[in-house]
Amino acid sequence: MKDSLEKLRAEFTEAVKTVSNSEALEALRIEFLGRKGKLAEILIGLPELAGDARKEAGILGNEVKRALEAGFADLTETIRKSELSAARDREWIDISRPGTEPGVGHLHPVSQAVQEILGIFSGLGFSRARTPEVEWDYYAFEALNMPKGHVARDEWETFFMADGEKIAEEAKGKIVLTPHTSNSQVREIEKKQFPIRMININKCYRRQSDLRHAPMFHQFEGLLIDKEISIADLRGTLDYFAKAFFGPNRVTRLRPHHFRFTEPSFEIDISCGLCNGTGKLEDGTVCRMCKRGWLELGGAGMVHPNVLKAGGLDPATCSGFAFGWGIERTLMMKSGMNIDDIRILYRNDLRFLKQF
Ligand code: PHE
Repeated sequence: MKDSLEKLRAEFTEAVKTVSNSEALEALRIEFLGRKGKLAEILIGLPELAGDARKEAGILGNEVKRALEAGFADLTETIRKSELSAARDREWIDISRPGTEPGVGHLHPVSQAVQEILGIFSGLGFSRARTPEVEWDYYAFEALNMPKGHVARDEWETFFMADGEKIAEEAKGKIVLTPHTSNSQVREIEKKQFPIRMININKCYRRQSDLRHAPMFHQFEGLLIDKEISIADLRGTLDYFAKAFFGPNRVTRLRPHHFRFTEPSFEIDISCGLCNGTGKLEDGTVCRMCKRGWLELGGAGMVHPNVLKAGGLDPATCSGFAFGWGIERTLMMKSGMNIDDIRILYRNDLRFLKQF
């Protein structure tokens, strides 16, 4: 055993020379002094020795152990110092150097459009309503004159929440991600604060993802309810918006359309800014932006009597109009943003976003 102990001491003296960082040091400590290390392994045999032999081996064992520990202590100190000074060199900071200025960001183009649209309508006395994105079937469809199972619902490519059916086979139906901002109509009427001049801007969701559709997008919805409101009021409002948002030379056009929750219903077009609504460019070629002078904005119409009733109003005493358009689309028409995939707006690519 004495031999083994002496050998171990010699082995240690050699091994120490190869250690140059704290990881290797720790590995070496475990190898020699660990609970199952080389020293412990030798001393395991101690109790089996007889009398004096055990005593001598015990004394030597202790001596070797102390020697090893002292060796480690020295080495630990040396390595600590050298690592510290290396770190100091590496991490040295010149605090007198001028700093790098943090980049100044700006609002996302869609947020910019939201703010601008809000500004225009608040100038007309509309105030912003907030409605849930996770919505009852009732407000998204049923109250909008689209009973359960009605084919018109198909157009809205709706996402249904998985647990919605369990939560609610009650009066307000399943739970959906609202596919349009029109869910705000009956919610607003139910507040019973008249007249209503509401603008609702919100995220909408549809099961569509392609060059022209993102599954999450934004719409803005206007709702006005008062006495003796006519299509002329709708037109005036839309024209005002078109001029304020797109420029003084732009006009809108109403095309007959069908929605279950407005009657009559329209698609709104805006005259093209590139060809001034003529469909032809100055050199006589067909306008590449619109091809026929008009660009499609979105839907509108006079609030359907059934929607007024759903909100508890009497269609004989009041009337109103509603419109709902996609923000992304409206933004693209204004900025002349020429993008071939609408989803780029939501890819967080700064090279793209920084341009706006
Ligand atoms: N909600 C309709 C859509 O998503 C648009 C619309 C709103 C139409 C208000 C008429 C009135 O297409």
